[in-house]
Amino acid sequence: MKIGPFFMDNIRLIVNEVVKKIKNSDNEMLESVRSEYFGKNGILTKILKSLSHYSIEDRKKIGFETNKAKAILESEIEKRKEDLKKALIVQKMEKEKLNCSSIFYFPFSKGSFHPIVQTMQDIVLAFKSLGFSVAEGPEIETDWYNFEALNIPKSHPVKDVQDTFYLDGMRSLLRTHTSPGQVRVMEKQDPPIKVIVPGRVYRNEASDASHSSTFHQIEGLRVDKNVTFLDLKVILTKFIHKFFCCGELDIRFRPSHFQFTEPSAEVDIQCFSCKGRGCKICKNSGWIEMLGCGMVHPNVLKCVNYDSELYTGYAFGIGVERIAMLRYKVDDIRLFYENDLRFLKQF
Ligand code: PHE
Repeated sequence: MKIGPFFMDNIRLIVNEVVKKIKNSDNEMLESVRSEYFGKNGILTKILKSLSHYSIEDRKKIGFETNKAKAILESEIEKRKEDLKKALIVQKMEKEKLNCSSIFYFPFSKGSFHPIVQTMQDIVLAFKSLGFSVAEGPEIETDWYNFEALNIPKSHPVKDVQDTFYLDGMRSLLRTHTSPGQVRVMEKQDPPIKVIVPGRVYRNEASDASHSSTFHQIEGLRVDKNVTFLDLKVILTKFIHKFFCCGELDIRFRPSHFQFTEPSAEVDIQCFSCKGRGCKICKNSGWIEMLGCGMVHPNVLKCVNYDSELYTGYAFGIGVERIAMLRYKVDDIRLFYENDLRFLKQF
């Protein structure tokens, strides 16, 4: 058998047609193209099968042209398949695109301040409304600021009850109270001073239901001409009434001792749970211990080069955890630090 004059041209024409077809096919159509041309009875398969009917010379030509056509079509089919795959991904991405600008619902529940932070903020707000400004100091202090400038000499036994964690070969320490922050304020500023210093403090002591080696304080200081113990009583009474909204409850000042104040006192408030009759909260005493206070010791004023003949001042220190425990009726201080969500979610 001899090949006709247009045989090769026909193959090329077929290829051009099929390439066009492939370009518009979906996956299913591609499979039918494949079987139409390369399947058992496919057009190109048939041509290859019939090679034996031709002369050797023609076989070569036909074989070459048919295999070339096969290769072109195979590669076009693969290309189209890839394109279809990509188009599918693009389509999927379009469909699943997240338009954040239209999201107004935030599916996570809103957090809240930790009860200690909340209490601290509220105490600070109460004192701000009584005319106090707010200052902060470093948590790592020197012996001078934490003790000596507060009338606690280097080897004084009172340091035992405020033992702390020493750093840097005893060159610095974790502050045991925020009073050093007050010393820093006085160093920078002349009287009048009316400031509170909130912050975290540390003591070297074992934790139990009412003690923790890390806790929070808010200490207050006022220094001016003619500041008296009466001013101290007035301001603390105002604060307690404001903070606990308990105008009808009694407050008492009990003599105490602090190295940096003279005279010193501790302030108790009549138990708001039993109104003084005695209960579990006040350990049957009818009173709840609130804070320590006193008139600034002249030695403290001298340490910051204030004229202790001209100026007097009062100071007080409030334990934030203590107030939070009373406020939220929490009976173990350790609950505040365990970060158990079942506990924290209640506030
Ligand atoms: N700094 C004292 C303490 O931490 C509290 C205090 C402050 C007492 C000011 C009196 C006056 O124990």
